Amino acid sequence: MPHSTPEERIAALRREIRHHDHLYYTKDRPEISDAEYDRLFRELVELETAHPDLLTGDSPTQRVGAPPLDELSKVAHEKPMLSLDSITDHEDVLAFDQRMKRELETGHIVYTAEPKFDGLSVELVYDQGRFVRGATRGDGRVGEDVTINLRTIRSLPLQLNANATPPSHLVVRGEVYMRLDEFQILNRRMTERGEEAFANPRNAAAGSLRQLDSRITASRPLTLTCYDIMALAGQAPATHWDELEALAAWGLPVPEHRRRCQSIEEVLSFQQDTDAMRDSLPFEIDGVVVKLDRRDWQDQLGSKSRSPRWAIAYKFAPRKEITVIQDIAVSVGRTGTLTPLALLKPVEVGGVTISRATLHNADEVARKDVRIGDTVKVERAGDVIPAIAERVPVPGESRQEPFVMPDHCPVCGSAVAREGAYFYCTGQTVCVAQLKGAIEHFASKSALNIEGLGKKTVAQLVEAGMVRDLADLYSLTKEQLLTLEGFADRSATLLMESIEHSKAVSLERLLMGLGIRQVGQHIARVLAKQFGTLARLMAATQEEFLQVREIGPEISASLTSFFSEARNRDVIDR
Ligand code: IVH
Repeated sequence: MPHSTPEERIAALRREIRHHDHLYYTKDRPEISDAEYDRLFRELVELETAHPDLLTGDSPTQRVGAPPLDELSKVAHEKPMLSLDSITDHEDVLAFDQRMKRELETGHIVYTAEPKFDGLSVELVYDQGRFVRGATRGDGRVGEDVTINLRTIRSLPLQLNANATPPSHLVVRGEVYMRLDEFQILNRRMTERGEEAFANPRNAAAGSLRQLDSRITASRPLTLTCYDIMALAGQAPATHWDELEALAAWGLPVPEHRRRCQSIEEVLSFQQDTDAMRDSLPFEIDGVVVKLDRRDWQDQLGSKSRSPRWAIAYKFAPRKEITVIQDIAVSVGRTGTLTPLALLKPVEVGGVTISRATLHNADEVARKDVRIGDTVKVERAGDVIPAIAERVPVPGESRQEPFVMPDHCPVCGSAVAREGAYFYCTGQTVCVAQLKGAIEHFASKSALNIEGLGKKTVAQLVEAGMVRDLADLYSLTKEQLLTLEGFADRSATLLMESIEHSKAVSLERLLMGLGIRQVGQHIARVLAKQFGTLARLMAATQEEFLQVREIGPEISASLTSFFSEARNRDVIDR
């Protein structure tokens, strides 16, 4: 751009990127390739780096999060954030319509119906078209300031569409949620890293948004939809439908699936249609919200203390079914964590047959007081791991003894140790479950990146007794590999080569690959930088670890205990 100043070019790039963000994240209709988008984005980053004085908070490059806070500060909402009364029966919907007609003294009412998103409610404030503040609902009057976290959400415009003349002050309400596919990917990533998975997309969204470290929020796939104008400067749209259209024109995401209903019968059919498409939607909804369309009528009816009189949540029947716990098994994960698992008499919940449900940990089993033989309600949130919602007491039943975690690992028989609510097997690589997990982790992309050493091959190597610890990988021979099913000359050579390659890996990746508790990618990097060599690290004392910023007592204890163990030192030596 020979004729434009950096300032002009930056403004043009931001406009263009904002436009494509909107098409991609809100409209789901991208017009340029990812590569083209990356090019624009990189150019903007470069210009902003070269001209830091031109960098502003509303630039699309500023969605990366900021250093962690000590706590989330509180903000008072401009207007209280109300909740909704909910109903579950058809008759209650008709009664709601009757009540509206009586109170408004009319025989004809138009409603707008839209999905009830299962996420967490937020308030967004825009001044002069710029996103300036966002908060969680909290108790309805005072919420938590999550502005910097919200800024990382791609579908949230940092700047409203100026061409549509947005109001100078605007407060909107919306829902932050996580798509089901993204939720599953996130949970898989968390479990692979040895972190605890989220129970459902709503918890994942809430946990991700209410973060002290907005960089974590930035790494989580959150989505936004907006469904209410709480306040604005100037003339408000006359109906709820127009309100949604106005929000969309200003660049805010709104529920795409919605209907303006000319009668309560149309509302009922919208509810049925929505229920029917529930399983094919990419996100969780738990009902439909029915709102009086005319805003003057909304104002006329006003609110009760906690909820408006002019809207109602018509909830779907919960996807819960009753069944019996036939047994409680205990599975062992990569880091040795024992997870109790309820084996159920198979039952169909929302079209899916369920025969097992996670019980998370021992505290959870105790809190729900579930035992073998108990009758329980199982719940399925979307397509995710089913959970036991609650025990259903059966009059006159005689119950078995409470469940206790085994004191020996069900896989290898080693002693089980306890850490808070978690129990874990102390067998480390003696335990086949942990050994397989440890090797998979060691070979993974972000660690030693050994191509050709996936889950299946790891299982073969362990089961054939060829690999009993990580060091054994380096004494494998091609002849050994050729005895395994599915291996041919070429695949064996390739695996041998990638194992050989992995010897040249950086200290950081090696540390990460060793699978030391509490040592993930980031801490591995910090340690590698600080200590430089493995020998120095192995010789370091707890005090020396503690002197490193970001390393607290838990990590330093985990490091010293790992390096003091003879077995681990031996593996490293070899
Ligand atoms: S309207 C004053 N519309 O449901 C009316 N709420 O149970 C404000 N929710 O706290 C709410 N989808 O977080 C509205 N389309 C939708 C919604 C919705 C989900 C949530 C919202 C609210 C809760 C009430």
